[in-house]
Amino acid sequence: MITYYEKERIFKLDTPNSSYLIGIVDEENFIGHIYYGKRLANAEASYLLRIQEPPYVPGRNNRERGAFYDCFPFEYPTGGTGDYRECCLAIRTAGGHAGSMLSYVSHEILGGKPELPGLPATFGTQEECETLRIICEDKYVGMQVELLYTAFSDNDVITRSVKIVNTGKEHFYLTKVYSACLDMDNRDYDMISLHGSWARERHIQRKPLGYGIQNVSSFRGESSHQDHPFLALVDRHTTQEQGEVYAMNFVYSGNFCAQAEVSQFDYVRMSMGIHQENFCWKLEPGEEFQAPEAVMVYTDRGLDAMTSAFHRLYRKHLLRGKYKDLKRPILINNWEATYFDFNTEKILDIAREASKLGIEMLVMDDGWFGNRYFDGCALGDWVVNEEKISGGLAYLVDEINKLGMKFGIWFEPEMVSPDSDLYREHPDWAIAIPNRPGTESRQQYVLDLSRREVLDHVYGMMAAVLRSANVEYVKWDMNRQLSDIGSIALPADRQGELYHRYMLAVYEMQNRLIHDFPDLLLENCSSGGGRFDPGMLYYSPQIWCSDDADAIERLAIQEGTALLYPLSTMGAHVSDCPNHVVGRTTPFDTRAAIALAGTFGYELDVTKIPEEDRAKIPEQVAMYHQYNDLIREGDYYRIASYSQNHMYDCWQVVSEDQRESLVTFVQVLTRANYKSRRILLKGLAENIRYKVHIEKDKLEMEELPVYSGDTLMKAGILVPNMPGDFQARLIHLTAVEG
Ligand code: DGJ
Repeated sequence: MITYYEKERIFKLDTPNSSYLIGIVDEENFIGHIYYGKRLANAEASYLLRIQEPPYVPGRNNRERGAFYDCFPFEYPTGGTGDYRECCLAIRTAGGHAGSMLSYVSHEILGGKPELPGLPATFGTQEECETLRIICEDKYVGMQVELLYTAFSDNDVITRSVKIVNTGKEHFYLTKVYSACLDMDNRDYDMISLHGSWARERHIQRKPLGYGIQNVSSFRGESSHQDHPFLALVDRHTTQEQGEVYAMNFVYSGNFCAQAEVSQFDYVRMSMGIHQENFCWKLEPGEEFQAPEAVMVYTDRGLDAMTSAFHRLYRKHLLRGKYKDLKRPILINNWEATYFDFNTEKILDIAREASKLGIEMLVMDDGWFGNRYFDGCALGDWVVNEEKISGGLAYLVDEINKLGMKFGIWFEPEMVSPDSDLYREHPDWAIAIPNRPGTESRQQYVLDLSRREVLDHVYGMMAAVLRSANVEYVKWDMNRQLSDIGSIALPADRQGELYHRYMLAVYEMQNRLIHDFPDLLLENCSSGGGRFDPGMLYYSPQIWCSDDADAIERLAIQEGTALLYPLSTMGAHVSDCPNHVVGRTTPFDTRAAIALAGTFGYELDVTKIPEEDRAKIPEQVAMYHQYNDLIREGDYYRIASYSQNHMYDCWQVVSEDQRESLVTFVQVLTRANYKSRRILLKGLAENIRYKVHIEKDKLEMEELPVYSGDTLMKAGILVPNMPGDFQARLIHLTAVEG
């Protein structure tokens, strides 16, 4: 709910358990941030704007205007006029000057949530959310700034975005446009972020917040394996179950910066937006720039509650399409099975064996097109290689369909290999700096999709393949990051727009794909999980989490990913051993138990794995069908973290009606001469009694007596110490009638 208190000039945005207060002060109409935190009964906290003490407002003390600018908690701070903290908006006028300052002009409160043209964004109906649009201006620049806030009525989420309009007579440049800012008191925060690398994505990092600027960012042209567009400031005593959390997540897949700055007066400014590096957007008179959306979550109930807010938001208000709420087909992907060494017969061999075991879809990965016999050529030549795929694609797909399986295919539409027909014909279609050799990465360049003819051509080729056979799934891959930023289609003073224009083009292309092929299941991927973000989730309900499918490495990757994203979005497969990335050997059951917490599938040559593993697949398939509704739709709780305790990992999913739950316990390292571990369960109903089944060896369940939710959450259950490392156990709880 959003209310404007006219006399006090205060906006109050309420979610079920949080309030956000904005105030307008002084005759110059500065827009200040008053409060964000536990829900308030009224809007009387404007004294927090600190205008009762020096340096007062400029209207009363113009002599110290600079001091006011440098400590006032701005809703949307601008640079160049005396606020020396990191700003959210920086401009350069036609005359080359940088200063700006905003003042309130008007506002409106709308039911629902407007779309952001060309950008991914959360959505909601009039019943589900309300939106506040504050219009402000800098009349000296000739600039209007729209601050957009949406408060959700069933979730502690406020989303924000910003639009800049040139209302003047001359052009100016935007050199920085962030999407959200929070000016608060520093209360001894820790900063939580997600950090990683290829095959090690989204590991949770927590550290104390100190003075100065601390940030996580990417200017790699994608959200990246290395850092993640997420930042949380949490009370130093915050745990999974209790304590304050201020979190921001960016609904964008390109360059970003998420930062916190603790100032001289112990204020903290937390902000998030498109990274400033190589960003410069020209606005001619009348033109506008729409910044992407940032999602903010506040809770005083710890990290589990933050996670639940993000999961619920993304499940209900971000994912789209046919598969949004559906069980996904269990797939088998041939990448780790064959790499580039496959043909029709090999794919059919895998499919025949897989179909007997209950696997539902065959995905043909990289290597089916052009002259692609290794990873250094043919990207851009999206024509089936009939030397490999003899009989053609339609024949292969028909044969697979006859087995009762669906068929999916891999593309890397954003790229071109220097050794490709496409590049030979259009060398200028790659992003490049003129007269400078481009930096190759995996022996490929990035296509300049900001050019209409490039986008149309690649999309046309892709669509032709999809129309030529019954293709029901696409894996959209992206295997290098951007560099050498330059487009021959842009004038010199618009080259700084390319990173963002590129992202808009990727979004446009994916949107076109899901509109033209509404039944298609799209899975995004970027060398594993290099572009796993809410922006991509708007187009594809699942994203390949990491090229590292080792069960133990996946614990930290999936823990970090599930901190924000629903389990239904995490691409997770059972792969072969020794694992192709880390060389580790883990039990087949353990690999399945961990992949079960994601979309579930196989990444191995099912014709070659040991017979005893193959024999387990039908049971694992049955397990997926038994638990997937619960895993996809249930509430997720983190119980123990192997990254922290270095011994074991544990998470739990509970159905919305609290009548069913699945706990996954992974004993990473066994401990000599040790007792059972006591696990306190979460999210159950205190007064419901649950039948507890704990998995014995070989997926058999042992039935324990019946216990109340109260006991299970307070006293816990005992999981015996198991012989051997890398052991997983599933514990299934079902409510007992009566
Ligand atoms: C990277 C992906 O993450 C892999 O799964 C596979 O599709 C390769 N690219 C293919 O080149």
